This record gives sequence, C-alpha cells and structure tokens, in this order.
Amino acid sequence: MLFTSFAFAYNNDEGKAIFSTRCTACHSIEKNVVGPALLNVDKRHDEKWIIAFVHSSQTVIKSGDTAAINLYNRFNNTPMPDHPDITDDQVRSIISYIKTESSVLASKPKKRYKDRMNCRLLISQ
Ligand code: HEC
Repeated sequence: MLFTSFAFAYNNDEGKAIFSTRCTACHSIEKNVVGPALLNVDKRHDEKWIIAFVHSSQTVIKSGDTAAINLYNRFNNTPMPDHPDITDDQVRSIISYIKTESSVLASKPKKRYKDRMNCRLLISQ
C-alpha cells in the first residue's frame, strides 16, 4: 500500500497524457516496440537517470554511462529523440504512470492463466 501512495505522488493523468502523445510511437509498457518495454523501468534506473535520458539520451550515452551504452547497442543504435521541453516533474509523472501500469500488469498473469484454463475446459468438453 505504501507503494500506491508513492505512485500517486505525481499526476498519473498528466503522465498518461504525455506518454500517449510523446512516447507510444516507440514504447509500450508491456512489449518492446522501437524502444524497450518500460515495465518496471523505475527498478532498472534511478529517477535522475530517467530524467536525463528522456531529456537527451545521446548526452547520457556520450557521457560513458554503461547502462545507456548497452541499451543503445541492444536497440540497434536507434537514437531516442531528445525531449528538452518535458519538465523534470512531467517525467516524474510519466514514471508514476508507468509504475501504476506496471503494478496493474503484475496482477494480470493469474487472470490470463485462468482464461487459458477455461479455454482448455471448453476444448475438452
Ligand atoms: C522515436 C522513438 C522513441 C521515442 C518517441 C521515445 N523513445 Fe524512449 N527509447 C527509444 C529507444 C530506441 C530506446 C533504447 C535506447 C537507445 O537506443 O538509445 C529508448 C529507451 C528509453 C528508456 C530506457 C528504458 C530501459 O529499459 O532502460 C526510457 C526510460 C525511455 N526510453 C523513455 C521514453 C519516454 C518517457 C518517452 C516519451 C517522452 C520516450 N522514451 C520516447 C526510442 C524512443
């Protein structure tokens, strides 16, 4: 529950709106698209790193940051465009939205499993 209150410290609606208009061309929470799936991204990098990367990924890469360099190589050296107009707090809202979506998805596999079971039951009838 503590996590939920942290997740809502920033504005999820604002985060969702920015994510949908500026990020979904290349990112989904669940799947790799042009860029990596952003599920649990807050567990892979600290907030400062994510803010810097969203502002200018190439600056982070050129600074010699190993995580950023590896990611860049893994995604075929596709540069993520700079977003200098997105404020630090707006990035925090995006992170907050991703965190909430990640915890929603974490509770999903059970349901999918149940659906598969139902499906098997239907087939075997
Ligand atoms: C044109 C495509 C594109 C857009 C638009 C884009 N990204 Fe990316 N993003 C990438 C790629 C490609 C990578 C992988 C790193 C690299 O190649 O530089 C990445 C990596 C990332 C990472 C690191 C993920 C990890 O798993 O470590 C974060 C965080 C991120 N993007 C956030 C965002 C956010 C937030 C937005 C919207 C404001 C956004 N990106 C918009 C292409 C994009």
